[in-house]
Amino acid sequence: MSTTLHASALLHPDHATPATPDFMPLLGTDHVEFYVGNAKQAAHFYRTAFGMTLIAYAGPETGQYDRASYVVQQGKVRFVLTTALRSHHAVADHVLRHGDGVHAIALLVDDARNAWTQATQRGAHSVSEPTTLRDAHGEVILASIQAYGDTVHTFVERKNYHGAFLPGYCAIEHDPIARPVGLLHIDHMVGNVGWNEMNAWVDFYERVMGFRLYQHFDDKDISTEYSALMSKVMANGNGYVKFPINEPAEGRRKSQVEEFLEFYGGPGVQHIALATHDILHTVSTLQRQGVEFLRVPHSYYTELEQRVGCIEEPIRDLEELGILVDRDDEGYMLQIFTRPVEDRPTLFFEIIQRKGSRSFGKGNFRALFEAIEREQQARGNL
Ligand code: FE2
Repeated sequence: MSTTLHASALLHPDHATPATPDFMPLLGTDHVEFYVGNAKQAAHFYRTAFGMTLIAYAGPETGQYDRASYVVQQGKVRFVLTTALRSHHAVADHVLRHGDGVHAIALLVDDARNAWTQATQRGAHSVSEPTTLRDAHGEVILASIQAYGDTVHTFVERKNYHGAFLPGYCAIEHDPIARPVGLLHIDHMVGNVGWNEMNAWVDFYERVMGFRLYQHFDDKDISTEYSALMSKVMANGNGYVKFPINEPAEGRRKSQVEEFLEFYGGPGVQHIALATHDILHTVSTLQRQGVEFLRVPHSYYTELEQRVGCIEEPIRDLEELGILVDRDDEGYMLQIFTRPVEDRPTLFFEIIQRKGSRSFGKGNFRALFEAIEREQQARGNL
């Protein structure tokens, strides 16, 4: 096995001296909008499997005649599931090209006009200029810029809005089928980009968005006998928003990033990591509710205590659920990855509980990627 776990750069924003003031202060992730083939059924999946609560809806009944959108939420995690109602529509085109996937990563800001101006002056391509939406609950200002592939970043300014989601959406007062599992917020969202494109996107997040390099991993960190990838983690000024960017690297067989690019039809969001305070409870509930997770072999757990030292959670319980553990000099973290949530091997989720560690589980890369490769092999894509 060719995996080498040597030291990679750990560049926490609060360890580094900022060269310039944060020109784009982000208050966090406002929501993530998915374009899907059937939003009604997708919303059902996120409610009954991931336990999210339906809080708002927009569609023909609310005056939005070309598409339907369901807003589901748990903790601060908010997803919008949008489908086109007719074939000739940008949402339908997106689904045709990519299958179900993330279209917009919406970022909460205090001043959307300023965020859009700062980004476009620094070279971002504008997707939509600042627009004010109003209803009886107040006003929201939205503006979007292009990110990797067909993905966009939308700046959301909602300090003068008190409705359920956005103007045009009606509130859903009660969701009888939501089954919460303890999800708190988005820890990070990973983008897969094409061969040799990682550094261009790292440069985009630095130059256009004011992010900084937080950690990086090269193909010596992230390679198995068969496939490899490289990754750089970008973080915004206050560290609330973290975007690791992956690109494929040469290996003996097809990289998992290449498989994603082939089936997604280009760059896009690979996984969304959702934080919990109690991963044993969250994952056991998700499994009961039908969410499928990657499994690692028994040998991972026989070597675990030697690798990570003493941890609070019984290793037997972690093995039963398939939860992985990694440690750095600040503490440890527990994580697990779902299988892709579409038939295409594209978007999946990570459930993560941090206990001091701010890392991304480098010690788990080998076991994890071998698990992914077993699945690639089963799909005939390795
Ligand atoms: Fe992750």
